[in-house]
Amino acid sequence: MSRKAWATRLLLWVALVPILVTAVGRRDVPPACNDHSFVNVLPPNVSVEKVVFVESGNTYGEGLRNLNYPIQPTNLPDLCAVTIFVKFSSASAYRFGLFLPVDWNNRILTYGNGGFGGGINWLDMGAGVKYGFAAISTDTGHNSTSGDISWALNNPETKTDWGWRSIHGSVEIGKKVVEAYYKKKIDYSYYSGCSTGGRQGLKEVQISPESFDGVLVGSAAWYTSHLNTWVSKVGTYNLPLTAPNHINASLFPAMAKEVVRQCDRLDGVEDGIISAPDACTPDYTVMACNRPGVNQSACLTAAQIATTAKAYGDYRAADGALLYPGLSPGCEDQWALVLGQNMTSLYGLNYARYFLYDDPGWQWQDYNDSAPAYAARTDPGRATADDYDLAPFRDRGGKMIMYHGLADGLLPAKGSDLYWERVVAATGGGNATATQQFFRYFTVPGMGHCGGTAVDAPWNFAAPFQAGTLGNDSWSVPGYRDARHDVLLALMGWVENGTAVDAVVATTWDASANASTPVRRQRPLCPYPATARWDGEGEVNAAESWRCEGHASTGPEVPKSVAAKSVGYSWATAGALGSMALSAVL
Ligand SMILES: *[C@@H]1O[C@H](CO)[C@@H](O)[C@H](O)[C@H]1NC(C)=O
Ligand SMILES: *[C@@H]1O[C@H](CO)[C@@H](O)[C@H](O)[C@H]1NC(C)=O
Ligand SMILES: *[C@@H]1O[C@H](CO)[C@@H](O)[C@H](O)[C@H]1NC(C)=O
Ligand SMILES: *[C@@H]1O[C@H](CO)[C@@H](O)[C@H](O)[C@H]1NC(C)=O
Ligand SMILES: *[C@@H]1O[C@H](CO)[C@@H](O)[C@H](O)[C@H]1NC(C)=O
Ligand SMILES: *[C@@H]1O[C@H](CO)[C@@H](O)[C@H](O)[C@H]1NC(C)=O
Ligand SMILES: *[C@@H]1O[C@H](CO)[C@@H](O)[C@H](O)[C@H]1NC(C)=O
Ligand SMILES: *[C@@H]1O[C@H](CO)[C@@H](O)[C@H](O)[C@H]1NC(C)=O
Ligand SMILES: *[C@@H]1O[C@H](CO)[C@@H](O)[C@H](O)[C@H]1NC(C)=O
Ligand SMILES: *[C@@H]1O[C@H](CO)[C@@H](O)[C@H](O)[C@H]1NC(C)=O
Repeated sequence: MSRKAWATRLLLWVALVPILVTAVGRRDVPPACNDHSFVNVLPPNVSVEKVVFVESGNTYGEGLRNLNYPIQPTNLPDLCAVTIFVKFSSASAYRFGLFLPVDWNNRILTYGNGGFGGGINWLDMGAGVKYGFAAISTDTGHNSTSGDISWALNNPETKTDWGWRSIHGSVEIGKKVVEAYYKKKIDYSYYSGCSTGGRQGLKEVQISPESFDGVLVGSAAWYTSHLNTWVSKVGTYNLPLTAPNHINASLFPAMAKEVVRQCDRLDGVEDGIISAPDACTPDYTVMACNRPGVNQSACLTAAQIATTAKAYGDYRAADGALLYPGLSPGCEDQWALVLGQNMTSLYGLNYARYFLYDDPGWQWQDYNDSAPAYAARTDPGRATADDYDLAPFRDRGGKMIMYHGLADGLLPAKGSDLYWERVVAATGGGNATATQQFFRYFTVPGMGHCGGTAVDAPWNFAAPFQAGTLGNDSWSVPGYRDARHDVLLALMGWVENGTAVDAVVATTWDASANASTPVRRQRPLCPYPATARWDGEGEVNAAESWRCEGHASTGPEVPKSVAAKSVGYSWATAGALGSMALSAVL
């Protein structure tokens, strides 16, 4: 290049740089993005903690100071990030965050939390704001990781904050903040939460039917009193470590593989995905150590086989009443969560210690069957979301979608069946079709707790926590941002256009948590008790080859013939737990 060409190029740059800088600098900070916009609408005891304008392409959050959500969303759109501080009582306070996008879709979306963790869920909010929602999330009134419940000790106020008050207040105050900021009425209010987030959503619908127009709740930990005591109970089945009935967690993968071998074909297609777990009772005697030819590194004794039966079994009171249903066949890959440790899971142990009995010296060995009734009677924090009459929500036009992964090894999938059936009884007069006019429940074959898969099952449909599994800047279903594949968009269509959600197509990739790898499978999820049935001819990994069958009032169709076709399922492709960031979800 000649010297003249260089000089010209240099001149061009010298001329361009100020223009580029001005272009960036000219990105206007909305005048409303400062605390004066909100102070007038905040009730007493509520203050603005922080207001920051975030330019597009940037990240926002609290980093490692946020113990439960240390990962920040990246590549955000232009938005105003607000943190509000609510001091409701002298013994507790909660905070909530808002992302107020410049390009607003006139709607708000509140996200739930996970486990007993305390922290604003900025990561999910980052996914929500990319749709255009003003996104909201609370820290639930404390600062802790998911299994740390020490903040609840002798403090009924922090229990109440976690139980319902922080979500309720965040939505109520959040609506005021959003309307003051945009000087406009909100058109629609949505909710999205899984696990504890599922419980929070159901609880809010029950105590405040006007909070949301559309609700998405997954793997809901709704039955706090019975669920968190079941967690202790099921843990004791596999303890102590020295008991002859103890199954070492290193055996769970071999058990999972055997259960797929026995149960997979009962749904009509041999693809490694158990879609009809209730049709199967795993027979572990084929793995019995005293059986000739059985692999002695992956075998079970009679005492250990008895432990498996207890884990699948329902937890019942002395009079036979159901306390909580057991685990479903197909979730053994996740058994380490409640059966794999040297003590019961923290969700059971610390619930008993800090939430239920206020006794830090309580040990898992102290568990006895009086716990569920005591927990139901006292219900600390009024956390249990066991009101089944959703007529007030229905009658003001609310729509709700609930889902549960059938391979969930932390929260039994049948717990969601139970909630659904009780709502049908209480709200639909026993008529499931009537209930489905406003509330539908989708089961997700092969999906673990809230997302991820160990069996290459389609698991991603833009439910809460799922975007974060795919990356810190992810949102919706990459490559499929439409109401057919994205349950949130489908829910919006139901609420706003009356388009009932008859199916949602779930997706997985060759590397199940890497959406840059080729799509491996897509398949519709169906409104319970309908199930997805393969047409017997088409490409088995394509959604078009499947349709939902079985009507709400008649129940699922029982497959007549078995094992239509093997689709070459390979264990080599199955990741252990998927690469779900479980710590953030739980
Ligand atoms: C939460 O507690 C940790 C220490 O336990 C602290 O470092 C962090 O700053 C706290 N976070 C917030 C948001 O207060
Ligand atoms: C404000 O907080 C105090 C205790 O700090 C409490 O007694 C009072 O009820 C609260 N007021 C409102 C409106 O929440
Ligand atoms: C469980 O198995 C692992 C690996 O085989 C072994 O290291 C561990 O000691 C075992 N645990 C118990 C309690 O036997
Ligand atoms: C026996 O089981 C162990 C543990 O699951 C496994 O690593 C090994 O490959 C198995 N051996 C055979 C021959 O299947
Ligand atoms: C249980 O295991 C944890 C680590 O998983 C360890 O820190 C703890 O000391 C163990 N407790 C007992 C009683 O063995
Ligand atoms: C059952 O557990 C509770 C709580 O630890 C305890 O107070 C009670 O005494 C126990 N009951 C029996 C019969 O051991
Ligand atoms: C159940 O509800 C549906 C939808 O509301 C209605 O069409 C149907 O007649 C009801 N069935 C019975 C048996 O009442
Ligand atoms: C997401 O953020 C975390 C923490 O900032 C980082 O460790 C991780 O690598 C990021 N993930 C991706 C896919 O960029
Ligand atoms: C409602 O339907 C209209 C017309 O088909 C469409 O443009 C709009 O996106 C739909 N809204 C939602 C939330 O699905
Ligand atoms: C995801 O897959 C793409 C395409 O194969 C690859 O380039 C990328 O490194 C993968 N990302 C991660 C985090 O593994």
